[in-house]
Amino acid sequence: MSDDKRVVVDFHGVDDAAVVRLDGKEAIVQTVDFFTPIVDDPYDFGQIAAANAISDIYAMGAIPLFALNIVAFPRKDLPMEILLEILKGGNDKAKEAGISIVGGHSIDDKEPKYGLVVTGRAEVDRLVKNSTASVGDLLVLTKPLGTGIVATGIKRGIADDSMIAEATKVMTTLNADASELMLKLGAHAATDVTGFGLLGHLLEMCQASDVSAEIKFEKLPFMNGVNKLAEKEIIPGGTKRNLAYVSSYVSFNSRISSNQKTMAADAQTSGGLLIAMPRDRTHQFVKNFNAISDIKATIVGQVTSPQETRITVV
Ligand code: CO
Ligand code: CO
Repeated sequence: MSDDKRVVVDFHGVDDAAVVRLDGKEAIVQTVDFFTPIVDDPYDFGQIAAANAISDIYAMGAIPLFALNIVAFPRKDLPMEILLEILKGGNDKAKEAGISIVGGHSIDDKEPKYGLVVTGRAEVDRLVKNSTASVGDLLVLTKPLGTGIVATGIKRGIADDSMIAEATKVMTTLNADASELMLKLGAHAATDVTGFGLLGHLLEMCQASDVSAEIKFEKLPFMNGVNKLAEKEIIPGGTKRNLAYVSSYVSFNSRISSNQKTMAADAQTSGGLLIAMPRDRTHQFVKNFNAISDIKATIVGQVTSPQETRITVV
């Protein structure tokens, strides 16, 4: 941990954003994320990059305040309209989150990249960390999985239009409602499911909280077609690395195929929140969330006392 006494959360832990106390209870929450295009439509890419960046603020139970653009763009090789579309997507998504993009920085670069620095605020004692999951909590996931596999399908030109539309809808959806509801109902712990995939982010939560977890594979929500793409070996490098990394911490029931293991480890972009809450509140969360959201939340497992393997997938 930093020597600076005002630092509440830094990169020594596994939380989603940095937290620095202002004075009294109030704290600044800040995060940064940017990446290369994962869909062909520049406006959609802008929205996805912004939703993904703001998500780390929501995962902490914080409220976004404002954002700055981070832009890399090949000025000489691509028409400027493409960049304007990306920025419009980011701007519209920020507006939907109730914030403004008030500055930023751009560089000339061979491959386009876009993302945001997002600043938010929270009361220190209301932060939802990922080190505070409790034995007996249920685990709820607020978006379906498979965006990494579908994005790879898009890159290789074999994802059909309905798959692209579903993945775009999932990735452009803000985690704002999920965050607000988990705060209201008193979640114990939360993180957003992104690059390390469901198993990787759950492993972080389990290790930081010193608990274990049991996941029911048949409860895991996947987007349509993810299974078929995985069967055709349309798997991103990040997903393979995730599975290799978590394998020594996860015990899979013998009936779970290697395909299914890969799907559970899929690297996500702008994924849902993974929330640990007491049983009755989790059921309340699912009921309330699913009443207002097109994308449904699912209870995927539970938190158990620490076992030799951190995660069991049954
Ligand atoms: Co995160
Ligand atoms: Co992040």
